[in-house]
Amino acid sequence: MIVAENLVKEFRLTERKPGLVGSLSTLFTREHRIVRAVDDVSFTIPAGSKTAYIGANGAGKSTTIKMLTGIMTPTGGRCLVRGIEPYRHRQANARSIGVVFGQRSQLWWDLSVPDSFRILRRIYDVPDPVYRRNLTLYRELLDIDALGTTPVRQLSLGQRMRAEIAASLLHDPAVVFWDEPTIGLDMVLKDAVRHLVNHVHRELGTTVVLTSHDIADIAAICDSALVVDRGRVVHQGSIRDLLRTAERRSVVFDHRGGPDPGHACARIEQELPGVHASPAEDGRIKVDYPVDRFTSRQVLAFLLERFDLADCYAPEPDLEDVLRRIYAGGRSAPRTTGVAGPGQGDAA
Ligand SMILES: Nc1ncnc2c1ncn2[C@@H]1O[C@H](COP(=O)(O)OP(=O)(O)OP(=O)(O)O)[C@@H](O)[C@H]1O
Ligand SMILES: [Mg+2]
Repeated sequence: MIVAENLVKEFRLTERKPGLVGSLSTLFTREHRIVRAVDDVSFTIPAGSKTAYIGANGAGKSTTIKMLTGIMTPTGGRCLVRGIEPYRHRQANARSIGVVFGQRSQLWWDLSVPDSFRILRRIYDVPDPVYRRNLTLYRELLDIDALGTTPVRQLSLGQRMRAEIAASLLHDPAVVFWDEPTIGLDMVLKDAVRHLVNHVHRELGTTVVLTSHDIADIAAICDSALVVDRGRVVHQGSIRDLLRTAERRSVVFDHRGGPDPGHACARIEQELPGVHASPAEDGRIKVDYPVDRFTSRQVLAFLLERFDLADCYAPEPDLEDVLRRIYAGGRSAPRTTGVAGPGQGDAA
């Protein structure tokens, strides 16, 4: 189980004024700006769940994951990963977690992938059968042998990500934190990675925490979602619950006889204000309605009365639409406060 209790992370940045005079004045009086990247965040991620940590660029996802993996210490509050405060007990925490930061390599740049794996095997004391089983899996799914003995720094982004993903799972960790793991991967490899993590979760009950800007990753891997907006949690629950927050839903129907699709759409929009009707594939019609004005029952009753329905279904709301609305609502920099006075810029 992973717990965050009123977790806060602030960064103190030195404001530099433009120009030479400005730069010199920075030496004497330093203006600071506090960036609150994680703002009083509390959540519980149950063991064995697959949670998407979702939010717009700059929402505070990576910063939270850095605290959960022990790389950064919180400014306030605390977090626990399987009962351990990660930044206080980095080594104990490292044994039970696997980490991928798509933006930053966890591997040794001058070593080849097989050499890195051999070192990781020693560090984590991975038993022979586990090591062999996992290598077989990575050969099969990630074509890991094709990376050869090239040093990591000479690998392409996609090649390096395959190695990073494999390395994060090599010791059968109880929890994996994957921060943008599919960055740079082609479609086939993305599928393989989704398959791999689902396989590992099924076999070992691994807890998965994933951030990704690829909605397909979230849909293919996660059952729960934690949505953050400007450092704050705005939704926590199942993906299904998240979809229920959609402001618009739709019904697709097919009808016999009656007006042609163009006329049918015009009629629906005229009689149901705020509804958008459009011809869908195979002559079907898609009716898109705002949930604060109509219930699905009302829309269906209207369609049954006006048309001779041959078929009708309600597609799931689109996760991308739901997230787009949340992101658009908070599309701005995180909360900042100006602080003047002596001191130094602080990056961690
Ligand atoms: N080391 C740092 N020093 C100063 N500010 C930082 C630092 N790391 C992050 N920030 C700021 O904190 C905020 C949150 O950044 P973070 O990297 O956690 O966002 P994110 O949700 O992972 O975004 P993305 O989707 O772009 O990866 C941003 O405004 C960022 O500029
Ligand atoms: Mg990030």
